[in-house]
Amino acid sequence: MKRLPIGILGSGKGSNCQAILERIGSGDLAAEARVVISDVLDAPILAVARKFFVANAYLPAGQFRTRLEPDSEAELVNMLRESGVDLVVLAGFMRVLHAPMLKAFRRRIINIHPSLLPKFPGLEAWKQALAAGEKVTGCSVHYVDDKVDHGQIIAQREVPILSGDTPETLHARIQVAERELYPAVIAEFSERYQTAGL
Ligand code: GRF
Repeated sequence: MKRLPIGILGSGKGSNCQAILERIGSGDLAAEARVVISDVLDAPILAVARKFFVANAYLPAGQFRTRLEPDSEAELVNMLRESGVDLVVLAGFMRVLHAPMLKAFRRRIINIHPSLLPKFPGLEAWKQALAAGEKVTGCSVHYVDDKVDHGQIIAQREVPILSGDTPETLHARIQVAERELYPAVIAEFSERYQTAGL
């Protein structure tokens, strides 16, 4: 069986990365993590990669706060190509991608977001859902474009909002759903990779 070569990008904790690497390790997910890359030097996601013996790298982002400097983004394309990555998996990557990446990996970059998009893009989406008085929220996996938490939705998982929920309890429940949904979506890409190619 061919294993889908993925690259994971993240800026923070790496709980989704961990869930994906666990599924790969247990043989449930026919993928191979070729590299984990972070724009934050001491991001825990890089330690997660090391724990699973996955190649990992820090990518200096340059002078901007919400995007990569064009040279950095071109370097990111090189790193992913040199690693033989076919699917780019964003897992808490806090920068918007632009032409170098979007052109190099057209419809092969996906992201997970903790709301039922198109509702509540942006930061702390679970707090936004609570404040809006929603009864249900959830998480979404979508193709990445050059806008924040935007792009065609691939799959969603609903999470009920309970009467006693605090931002913390709701966030924790959404994260459980994320850790199931993301590997399941990557498994669908992997099935396509076995047959038709991405
Ligand atoms: C996740 O909640 C994801 O939805 C959002 O960023 C968070 C990353 O968390 N895009 P982690 O680094 O995977 O723990």
